[in-house]
Amino acid sequence: MRRTIIVGNWKMNNTIAESVELATAIAEKVGAAKPECEVGIAPTFPALHEVGKVIEWSGVKLAAQNCHYEDDGAFTGEVSARMLAAAGCSYVILGHSERRQLFGETSDIVNRKVKKALAEGLRVILCVGETLDERERGVTGEIVTAQVVEGLAEVADISNLVIAYEPVWAIGTGRTATKEQAQEVHASIRSTIEGLYGEQAARHLRIQYGGSVKPSNAAELFGMPDIDGGLIGGASLKVEDFMAIIEAAG
Ligand code: PGA
Repeated sequence: MRRTIIVGNWKMNNTIAESVELATAIAEKVGAAKPECEVGIAPTFPALHEVGKVIEWSGVKLAAQNCHYEDDGAFTGEVSARMLAAAGCSYVILGHSERRQLFGETSDIVNRKVKKALAEGLRVILCVGETLDERERGVTGEIVTAQVVEGLAEVADISNLVIAYEPVWAIGTGRTATKEQAQEVHASIRSTIEGLYGEQAARHLRIQYGGSVKPSNAAELFGMPDIDGGLIGGASLKVEDFMAIIEAAG
């Protein structure tokens, strides 16, 4: 059985004080509800350490939104996987479409980050997904498969990997993939993984859906056989909505 995983991607939102306040509220609710699913939150870099301190007792995991692929050195503005691990992170989100589109991250860069983060003992949430144009051209399968294969090049062990399928056209737009559309891509990702890593690894891999997940659509998405949770943007900034999504995950 795969344990469902819900992670809140806070993106570039909240000061340290605001992050600690939101994280404290989430930790209290999750700590009391003790959901079966795994729960994580991904604040901005400056807030990571303080947020880590207030969620530790609750079982909520600390995640970062990005990292660099070198350990240290002359890389102004960057943060390494080693630093994130030392700051208390369990997870790092890599290859988010906003990183790919707005900051020029290629699959090669994403792959280097994946390898470094795994080597540092972090769990990786590797994001993949097609644009609206790619969906309309009927190349969703090829695009997503290429992102998975290239993102995982030279990665031998995927036991600390989660994949997040996030159709770019559904992120922050209020437009969610239907449960059937999402299931189709999730199943194809799992079969790509089976081809690369074998049946058992594919069966164990958790694949999250992301893109306008909200309390009203969470349960139907999470009910699909190959959807193992969600990467939640906007709705993770509101305690009530995030908790409702966690409840929908069981
Ligand atoms: P959204 O973002 O839930 O606001 O659409 C999801 C994501 O980008 O991870």
